[in-house]
Amino acid sequence: MLRSLQASNQVKASPFLKWAGGKGRLLAQYQPLFPQQYGRYFEPFVGAGAVFFHLNPQEAHLSDVNGELVNAYQVIRDHAEALISTLSGYPHDKDFFYALRAQDPATLTSVERAARIIYMNKTCFNGLYRVNRRGQFNVPFGDYKNPRILDVAGIRAAQNVLQGVSVTHQGFDAVLTEAQSGDFVYFDPPYHPLSSTASFTSYAADDFGPEDQIRLAAVFRRLDAKGVKLMLSNSDTPFIRDLYDGFEIQQVWAPRAINRDASKRKGVNEVVVTNYATQLAAPASSHRLAVVGEDRR
Ligand SMILES: C[S@@+](CC[C@H](N)C(=O)[O-])C[C@H]1O[C@@H](n2cnc3c(N)ncnc32)[C@H](O)[C@@H]1O
Repeated sequence: MLRSLQASNQVKASPFLKWAGGKGRLLAQYQPLFPQQYGRYFEPFVGAGAVFFHLNPQEAHLSDVNGELVNAYQVIRDHAEALISTLSGYPHDKDFFYALRAQDPATLTSVERAARIIYMNKTCFNGLYRVNRRGQFNVPFGDYKNPRILDVAGIRAAQNVLQGVSVTHQGFDAVLTEAQSGDFVYFDPPYHPLSSTASFTSYAADDFGPEDQIRLAAVFRRLDAKGVKLMLSNSDTPFIRDLYDGFEIQQVWAPRAINRDASKRKGVNEVVVTNYATQLAAPASSHRLAVVGEDRR
């Protein structure tokens, strides 16, 4: 199916999973920060892909270290109807949830694995994906009245946008050899914690520590030297500002959705680093953006 044939009455593609650190709420603030023109698009920490679906680039290369997530993208791209048919048989039921959660993904077909992660994401507590050290999904059943386990139009819209898109299970370093001058890479890594207790980095079995942030900043600098356009999101901390010293740094205000403690759900400052002048380039090194058009999912 050619993406250019997308029916005009089709719903706009958007993330098919709710993901910790999802950027849906920040897109209005990000809009003036994207480059005006670029070649291929790379997103090596794709998560639920809010930025990818928003930009809908001509040629895109997505990747992530979360194998279940990557498989779900591939299944939506290549086997959407089989996924729809499988999900349509999944009831909203606590016992079914725990039976599915107990399954070892390695024993399932790729379609069953995708259905499993989507089902659990829609029905689990707070709708957040989290795994333990052994990589097992460990979130309990949620208390949603009528969760949208199967969103046929949403899956088909995502399928359409994903045609011709490569989705790879790999670490972020791979982008170093893949991206070339004129391409655009958007990095959205697990954030450096604001405090030692604020960490939420268990998307996959491995945590993302300070040494990973340092490795990432080195990749950023090497890609910059190659002439690749770069944009990166992270928490606003002295450590992160230091790592990206010399690049344009904008401050954005991020409303927080995923936090067990409702009193901490207000929001937090984040930074967006670019190696090109954004439309908001200001004489000062940081710039507070107004919060506009919050996307409440
Ligand atoms: C902040 S989330 C991305 C959120 C995404 N932008 C969205 O809108 O949903 C970070 C992602 O990085 C992935 N990740 C963690 N360590 C990684 C690594 N070393 N290489 C590539 N991806 C990694 C996680 O699995 C997670 O999906």
